[in-house]
Amino acid sequence: MSAETFFVTTPIYYVNDAPHIGHGYTTVMGDIITRWHRQRGEDVWYLTGTDEHGQKVLRKAEANGVSPQEWVDKLVEDEWKPLLETIDVANDDFIRTTEQRHLDGSKAFWQDLQDRGAVYQGSFSGWYSVGSEEFVGDDDVADGEGDDEGFKVSTLDGSRVEHMTEENYFFRLSDYQQQLLDFYEANPTFIQPESARNEVISFVSRGLRDLSISRSTFDWGIGVPWDDKHVMYVWVEALLNYVTAIGYGADQERFEKIWPADIHIVGKDIARFHAVIWPAMLMAAGQPVPHQVFAHGWLLVGGQKMSKSKANGIRPDEIVDTFGSDAYRYYFARALTFGSDGSISWEDISARYHAELANGFGNLASRVAAMIGKYFDGTLPAAGDLTDAELTVIDTVAEAVRDADAAIEAVAPQDALAAIWRIVDELNGYITDQAPWKVAKDESQGGEGGRLATILHTAAEGLRVLAVLLNPVMPKASAVLWDSLGAEPALGVLADQRIDAVAAWGQLPAGTVVTKPASLFPRIETAAE
Ligand code: MSP
Repeated sequence: MSAETFFVTTPIYYVNDAPHIGHGYTTVMGDIITRWHRQRGEDVWYLTGTDEHGQKVLRKAEANGVSPQEWVDKLVEDEWKPLLETIDVANDDFIRTTEQRHLDGSKAFWQDLQDRGAVYQGSFSGWYSVGSEEFVGDDDVADGEGDDEGFKVSTLDGSRVEHMTEENYFFRLSDYQQQLLDFYEANPTFIQPESARNEVISFVSRGLRDLSISRSTFDWGIGVPWDDKHVMYVWVEALLNYVTAIGYGADQERFEKIWPADIHIVGKDIARFHAVIWPAMLMAAGQPVPHQVFAHGWLLVGGQKMSKSKANGIRPDEIVDTFGSDAYRYYFARALTFGSDGSISWEDISARYHAELANGFGNLASRVAAMIGKYFDGTLPAAGDLTDAELTVIDTVAEAVRDADAAIEAVAPQDALAAIWRIVDELNGYITDQAPWKVAKDESQGGEGGRLATILHTAAEGLRVLAVLLNPVMPKASAVLWDSLGAEPALGVLADQRIDAVAAWGQLPAGTVVTKPASLFPRIETAAE
């Protein structure tokens, strides 16, 4: 049985550098899913954070002439925490792997693994990529070319590898092959999408080797509890953040309330760590495994995977400064299929901003409010008899709400937005067809309960639904809309509006004060380079 809390996580990000929009992507998608589940009335916990140990971070600090602790402290405070505000993320917790709770919890977990006989001492000789903090098998190593001439590289991701021989502790990963395969079979949605699932199953089917889980040639890490000559291998330590953040080894009651995770959102590069090593570690420690690992694809810029090392890494604020955080969030959720690679471009952001947000949605909101202002002095009138046109709007809304909710359940935010946009399109078409400005010229159709009142009340109700459904994606614009509809006095705060109740028609009472909102998505004239 599942824990009480719907627990969503992002990967914890390496603080070798400042964040780019790839990191922002994962975090925003987690935030959208989280906010939607909150509006379903679920008890939700959203965790993100930073991965601060390991050689990659250590070397970066050394190259900059500062201690690793100084390096991570500065980058986390100056770059990683501010990112959350830039992209308007409402996480419940932020874990740093240099925090005491993580040190203590990780040691407790290791001790549990040791006590259960899952760890042994041995020696490791082989290839290691500091770039991806990963051991690389002989078969996956090749001679480098171009800039990497004279070096060995990993064929998995092109990063340089180094040969190392060390005394290490090992985790008995090979013991878990059959248990993992049985688990994937019994839980077909554990690793999604299908492409990631197939990749993981075929990887595990080829056989698993025991995993080296400690390092003994540097000390930027957490000491192994019974042997301080070793620090924990950074990946094994990092995965533990998901349990150390919620009380593992310290507050059992809290831990059991939140664990297991309902969804670990990760990039596809790290699906194997989450879908193979992590569940095996949990099985070995006698803990429940997560319900789902969802592996999303790459952001491609100019056809190439975006990354800092390729110098095509874009900072989130470059986009937010021009388009705002709402449009940023909307764009990544709408334009890409979560789970597949997708190209992004400045032109595409600008085109969608203007067509979908400014003209499609923003204009709708301001037109309706302006007409209620003009024809009813800003007081929402009561609707009269509904015609087929209104019944079609009501049906469209009900169906869109069902479809959007099902899409979030299936971790497909792009489909949720497509469903919600059917309401935007329906309302725009409805207003064009009903032409309230023409109806207003006929005095017999005015007043409370008249045809004009019915049209504008229907449109306002449609906007109420949009504010609620778009709140998880565009919280700022939705709040402005909610306010412009004067909805709060009658219906309460926006974040408390429940998805399952939103389609019930006629919630905005007559007499509500409607004001024209500040332009939700003003046109942007300057095209940036
Ligand atoms: N520290 C590890 C994760 C440990 S989780 C227990 C790590 N960190 S990372 O900084 O490299 O961030 C990886 C995540 O950032 C990816 O899994 C992905 O979610 C996101 N992305 C980084 N570059 C990306 C793209 N170009 N496109 C999409 N997402 C990207 O791995």
